[in-house]
Amino acid sequence: MTPVSTGSRCRVCGNSRLKLGLDLGFLPLANSFLSAERARDPTPEQRYPLRVYYCQDCSLIQLIDIVNKEEMFGDYAFLTSASKTALTHFDEYADEMSRRLSLNSTDLVVDIGSNDGTLLKSFQRRGAQIMGIEPARNLAARCSAEGIPTLNEYFGPETVSKIGKHKARLITANNVVSHVNDLNGFMDSVSEALSRDGLFAFEVPWVVDVIRHNNFDIIYHEHLSYFGFKPISELFKKHNLDLIDLQHFSNIHGGTLRGIVANSDSPLKSETVKRTFDRENREANFESLEGFARRVLEIKHKLSQLLLELKRKGKTIIGYGAPAKATILLNYCSIDRSILDFVTDTTPLKQGRFIPGVRVPIVAPEEILRKNPDFALLLAWNYKAEILQKEQKYLESGGKFIVPFPEPQIIS
Ligand code: TYD
Ligand code: ZN
Repeated sequence: MTPVSTGSRCRVCGNSRLKLGLDLGFLPLANSFLSAERARDPTPEQRYPLRVYYCQDCSLIQLIDIVNKEEMFGDYAFLTSASKTALTHFDEYADEMSRRLSLNSTDLVVDIGSNDGTLLKSFQRRGAQIMGIEPARNLAARCSAEGIPTLNEYFGPETVSKIGKHKARLITANNVVSHVNDLNGFMDSVSEALSRDGLFAFEVPWVVDVIRHNNFDIIYHEHLSYFGFKPISELFKKHNLDLIDLQHFSNIHGGTLRGIVANSDSPLKSETVKRTFDRENREANFESLEGFARRVLEIKHKLSQLLLELKRKGKTIIGYGAPAKATILLNYCSIDRSILDFVTDTTPLKQGRFIPGVRVPIVAPEEILRKNPDFALLLAWNYKAEILQKEQKYLESGGKFIVPFPEPQIIS
C-alpha cells in the first residue's frame, strides 16, 4: 500500500504554480473511526500531511497530498439521514429540481455518492426513475436491500456504459466533487451520461464561507478541492458544459453553493454566477488564505486555553457530535480524553467507536442527560440551530455549549 502521493499540478488547470497557504501538520483520516479493539492498541494510527495550496493560475484552493481512496471510502460511517436539517434540505432539493426539469416517470435521476439514498428516495416519491452510485460497500448494500438501485463503484466511464450514454436527465453530486482527484475524467463522464436537455447539479461548501467563518475543520484528506466556482467553471467549459446558475444555502455545512450545469449550448445564465466570481476574487485569493491561516492558529490557542481553564475549575466537558470535522478540530487543537469525557453521536455506526488520534469514545446522545456535563463542545456546529433547539432540557438544567466558530464562544 502506498498511502500518500504528492502531486505537483493544479487539479483544474494543470499548471504547477502552486503556493502553500496553510499547513495543518500531520493528521489522521477524519472518517476512520476506531473500533474498541483498535483503540486499545497503543500503536499510533497513520497520520498524513494536511497542507492547503493555492493555484496562482486559476485560483483553486486545494490539497496535493493524496491518500489512497480505498483507505478512506471502502467502509463509511457517515449517513445523510442523520440530521433533520439534511433531510429537509434534500427533500426541497428534489422538489425544486423535479419542477425545474418537469421530471416524470420516463426521466432518470443519477446521484453520484448516493450515500444512504436520502436524496434519491425524494426523487422516487416524485415519480422519477433513480440510480445511485456509491463506492462504500456497506452503504451500497444497504440501499440495494431497500429497493434503491445502486451501483457499488466510483463514478467513471464504466458507470456511463452501464447507464447508457446521454440517458440521465439529471445528475446530482453533493459533497462529492471536492473528493475527486481526476476532475477532468469525472466531468468527461458527467458530460457523456447527461441527456442533451439534462442538468448536472452539485453542492460543495463554498470556499468564501469556509474562509469567512474560519471553518478549518472541514479541511481533511477526503476534501481535495475547496471550490471556487470560477476555477470550476473553466473546467466545465473544457467538457462542453456550462455553469448556468448558483444557489446559496447558508445553513448547510456553514455555507454551501449548489451549482447548476447545462450543456454548453444552453442560453440561460444567471447574474448570481458573475456576483459569485467577484466575491471569490476578493475573498478567496492567496492573501485571504494567509489571513485564514493566522486565524486558525488563534482559534487553536483560544479554544485550548478556554477548555484547560474550565478543566482547572473542575468542570466536566463532553463533545457533541462526531462528524469527520471533529477528528480534525480535536487532533489539531490536541483536545483528548483528559479534556473530553466522551463525544456523543446519533449515528449507530459511530457509537462504540473512537475518534482517531485523540481516541475519545463515541457514545449515544442519551449519555448527556445521564451525566449532565457542565459544557458540551459543539463539534457538529453546522447543525447548531437544530441541536440547540433539541437540547433545551440540557440548557435549562444549566448545561452550556461551546461553539468553536467563527470564534470560540459559550452559549447558555
Ligand atoms: P456532518 O457535519 O453532517 O458531516 P461530516 O462528517 O462530513 O463533517 O456530520 C454530523 C454528525 O453529527 C453526524 O455524525 C451526526 C451527528 N449529529 C448528532 O450526533 N446529533 C445531532 O443532533 C445532529 C444534527 C447530528
Ligand atoms: Zn489551477
